[in-house]
Amino acid sequence: MTRPTRILGIETSCDETAAAVIARDEEGRGQILSNVVLSQLKDHAPYGGVVPEIAARAHVTHLDRLIAQAMAESGFDYKDLDGVAATAGPGLLGGVIVGLTMAKAIAFAHGKPLLAVNHLEGHALTARLLQDVEFPYLLLLISGGHTQFQMVEGVGRYHRLGTTIDDALGEAFDKVAKLLGLGYPGGPQVERLARRGNPQRFDFPRPLKGRKDCNFSFSGLKTAVREVVNDLGTLTDQDVADVCASFEAAVAETMADRLKMAVHLFRVAHPQVEHPALIVAGGVAANQTLKAVFERAATLHRLQLIVPPAKLCTDNAAMIAWAGAERLALGLTDPLDFAARARWPLDQAQAPVYGSGKLGAKA
Ligand code: KG4
Ligand code: ZN
Repeated sequence: MTRPTRILGIETSCDETAAAVIARDEEGRGQILSNVVLSQLKDHAPYGGVVPEIAARAHVTHLDRLIAQAMAESGFDYKDLDGVAATAGPGLLGGVIVGLTMAKAIAFAHGKPLLAVNHLEGHALTARLLQDVEFPYLLLLISGGHTQFQMVEGVGRYHRLGTTIDDALGEAFDKVAKLLGLGYPGGPQVERLARRGNPQRFDFPRPLKGRKDCNFSFSGLKTAVREVVNDLGTLTDQDVADVCASFEAAVAETMADRLKMAVHLFRVAHPQVEHPALIVAGGVAANQTLKAVFERAATLHRLQLIVPPAKLCTDNAAMIAWAGAERLALGLTDPLDFAARARWPLDQAQAPVYGSGKLGAKA
């Protein structure tokens, strides 16, 4: 029996600097040997969003130390690795270049293959690092920069079923939080305050509900929230909580409807799969109200719901290392002149949609 392959992964596409080492055995079972993440949240918080130049500089400052830490914690040396994986896009180009260049240098210096990973493929395959999940499955990615349904057919084989046509869901949470004068990132704050609010007080729109596709749109919902906030004038604590709860209720109802359509499209494409897995990834997957929606949908539509733990749902390098390991197992390595990409849709056969991968948007 051959030993498991070991991959160093590097993630620098947005505001997390991350390095990890994972192992993958012959049966495709994964193990995380180390996983370090440095969040730059406090560097960007004063600006109410991620500042690309600050992010790139922070990656340069911290990346070599984090890689050294990940290697030390794994207990292995560079010579024991089978490949070096890095996010090569999509993301903020300055940051992506920092991580990819570092990966190329390590790969070249130690004579290891380079694995240039699509960050979204990292999110898409994470569930297989933790448990045995068979292809095909349904992926719902809900983060600060992406909101999309993908049919995951295999490594490198994706079919986009739906996407947001404007704002990403995490972005909508962040913008609502900003309107209410809450801090960044807004999602967790909106969720916390929604708990003591009245979800029926404001009748916000349920965007695209009932449509026969499974796209999303959140910009009109955000505008509706802005109008209510403007009309209220001075907001009491209860007003803020009620807006949060009513916004979350609109998102939850929309999500249940869009999910129903996505499952329908999946079943049409794969009638033989009895209990397809539904993987929910991205920072917004941490939201408990939405998690309840996914659980109900899983029961209703006979799905196997898998929400990876928050640490692996949000940006991290273990998912990049794992995607690299899955690609290496298929012999898919990359040349050392592989160029970083700001845009890189998973399903390249589909027409680009504004919201499906904004330039420099958070993935
Ligand atoms: O996946 P992530 O950590 O970063 C990327 O976008 O790649 O997602 C961050 C997004 C932010 O927009 C944040 O507001 C949102 O996820 N978020 C939440 C919650 N926790 C994080 N949104 C709603 N409810 C939450 N509990
Ligand atoms: Zn991401």
